[in-house]
Amino acid sequence: MGCTKMMIWVFLLEILIMGGVNGGNLVQDFDINWGYGRGKFVNNGQLIELTLDNFTGSGFHSKNEYLFGKIDMQIKLVPGNSAGTVTAYYLRSQGDAFDEIDYEFLGNLTGQPYTVHTNVYTGGRGDREQQFHLWFDPTTNFHTYSILWNPHTIVFAIDEIPIREFKNRERLGIPFPKFKPMRLHSSLWNADQWATQGGRIKTDWSQAPFRASYRNFRADACVKIAGRPSCSPRTGSWLTRTLDGLSQNRLKWVRRKYRIYNYCTDPKRYPQGLPKECHVQE
Ligand SMILES: *[C@@H]1O[C@H](CO)[C@@H](O)[C@H](O)[C@H]1NC(C)=O
Ligand SMILES: *[C@@H]1O[C@H](CO)[C@@H](O)[C@H](O)[C@H]1NC(C)=O
Repeated sequence: MGCTKMMIWVFLLEILIMGGVNGGNLVQDFDINWGYGRGKFVNNGQLIELTLDNFTGSGFHSKNEYLFGKIDMQIKLVPGNSAGTVTAYYLRSQGDAFDEIDYEFLGNLTGQPYTVHTNVYTGGRGDREQQFHLWFDPTTNFHTYSILWNPHTIVFAIDEIPIREFKNRERLGIPFPKFKPMRLHSSLWNADQWATQGGRIKTDWSQAPFRASYRNFRADACVKIAGRPSCSPRTGSWLTRTLDGLSQNRLKWVRRKYRIYNYCTDPKRYPQGLPKECHVQE
């Protein structure tokens, strides 16, 4: 067997083993914690559906808290006229001085692009927004939205294409989330005060209920079991991974073609000067 073939085999084998670990039943991993029945497990826990109507939205969160992980979820966003709706998907620690790694999908009028809003909070402070349009329609199919969080870096990736990286630059005095375990949360809610085209387009309630769907959750992560971190898989490369050359090229492509907002190029927001990381990374 040639070397490449061999590698493909090892790769496939890994997928099978991992697939076994995260069996795909979302009931094991999540609690629906908001929405009076508007959030549901369907297909025997293969799928979570969140809905929003003119009374309230809905949401779920993970049972586990993770301290580092490569966390993937396939999401299909609200189709049609989703203006005014926000689907939030994020890791967050508890307490006021929380750390957070945040995706928010801002809906739009039919045929107009969703905006993917991202942020990183450390010790309760965010103000690190970057926004993107997508290279596909996120409402017709499921796509994989990932967070890689390890001691070296945080990478936001969609279908394994990195869209944003926040590196650990602690040695330059830039805070990096490293000590507080985070739970995974998602919610679908009405934010028509600000979400779509600066709040000019309001939610059209005649289109309700709005619906977002989730499946194929996978967490290669460290979780606390009996107070101790336990990591799966133990030798997982995710814990040491940084972006390779190909991924860096993809990241550059996304920045060039799809990034529509970057806090680091918005000095008027920071009268005291841009955050430190803006001088060493985008
Ligand atoms: C909310 O939606 C329900 C069902 O479509 C409708 O009967 C009701 O009038 C709506 N309420 C408001 C405040 O729009
Ligand atoms: C909605 O569409 C407009 C026009 O194409 C675009 O400028 C905007 O970024 C899109 N997203 C949101 C959330 O407004």
